[in-house]
Amino acid sequence: MRILVTGGAGYIGSHIVKALGEKRHSIVVYDNLSYGHEWAVLNGRLVKGDLADQRLLNTIFEAEDFEAVVHLAAFVVVEESVREPVKYYKNNFVNTLDLIEACITHNVSKFIFSSSAAVYGIPEKVPVTEDAPLQPINPYGSSKVMVEHVLDDVSKAHNFRYVSLRYFNVAGADPLSRIGQTRKDATHLITTSLRTALGIKDHLDLFGTDYPTPDGTCIRDYIHVDDLADVHILALESLTSGSGSRVYNCGYEHGYSVKDVVEKVKNVTGVDFPVRPVGRRPGDPPALIADASRIKKELDWKPKYDDLGYIIKTAWEWEKKINLKTQTHP
Ligand SMILES: NC(=O)c1ccc[n+]([C@@H]2O[C@H](COP(=O)([O-])OP(=O)(O)OC[C@H]3O[C@@H](n4cnc5c(N)ncnc54)[C@H](O)[C@@H]3O)[C@@H](O)[C@H]2O)c1
Repeated sequence: MRILVTGGAGYIGSHIVKALGEKRHSIVVYDNLSYGHEWAVLNGRLVKGDLADQRLLNTIFEAEDFEAVVHLAAFVVVEESVREPVKYYKNNFVNTLDLIEACITHNVSKFIFSSSAAVYGIPEKVPVTEDAPLQPINPYGSSKVMVEHVLDDVSKAHNFRYVSLRYFNVAGADPLSRIGQTRKDATHLITTSLRTALGIKDHLDLFGTDYPTPDGTCIRDYIHVDDLADVHILALESLTSGSGSRVYNCGYEHGYSVKDVVEKVKNVTGVDFPVRPVGRRPGDPPALIADASRIKKELDWKPKYDDLGYIIKTAWEWEKKINLKTQTHP
């Protein structure tokens, strides 16, 4: 299949491009390299361009006969979205609207969207199902909800079907350490813990120890990036076989507390780094765990890497390599 992957040079996108390449799909990656890297594109052709550049985007749609779009390009830092909401609505919503319009104009009828568990805000019930109320508590989450509404309306009006994948906490790296997280500003717990173990950070902040959870710290559902990449293949196959538009949670249906993760990171790395309890961060739900029964049932998804030790180990090998190569993160 001929597929356009926006944001395919970034952390998750590069793993999806790897998986699509292994399935022999023909891939064009569209990325402005603001956070992505040319070397991270293991398959297909990279076009360096911005989503806001409608002329370039339309030229590519005209030149290539895409059958599907996998759309990841977005800004992803929740805290930044609170400080700079317009920046987030422009890139994550307005630019996505233009991309959807280009799909309609050029008769591209299959669309996979990178959504997020942030659409649920602070869920009333955990594990959270796809039918739970969408109550985002920051502009990042709102931008994802807005796109989901547009996708739903567009799919009713046009020859256009989509799968929206609500990722939970994505972690881990390619087991061959070819690609992984590169963002200096990554706020993800496993990445920041590993960077503390490496001495890049002198200590790890523990945000909140008085949550209503067994050990007082927040619980999250961590999914290995390669399992998530495989979900995109299944989603594309479902659209190809004629299935209708769907929304799916992507997570392992169980969680680990911050303390669990830190302990496991210390165990895997063999480094006992300093951890400093600080206050709660605003807007952190006590527990965020996916109910993934829908995707398991409908797409027959069988996760392969549901193992926190493996997730941390692959990320650790990657962090060591990228740190050695660059002395600092690129
Ligand atoms: N990392 C997570 O845990 C997580 C969780 C839920 C959802 N997501 C979603 O997954 C997607 C990918 O996230 P990631 O963690 O790989 O982030 P990332 O920053 O590594 O990747 C995003 C990529 O998009 C590119 N990009 C951004 N704006 C662009 C634009 N205007 N034009 C062209 N390229 C642009 C960047 O250069 C980068 O390569 C995002 O849509 C994000 O919201 C991520």
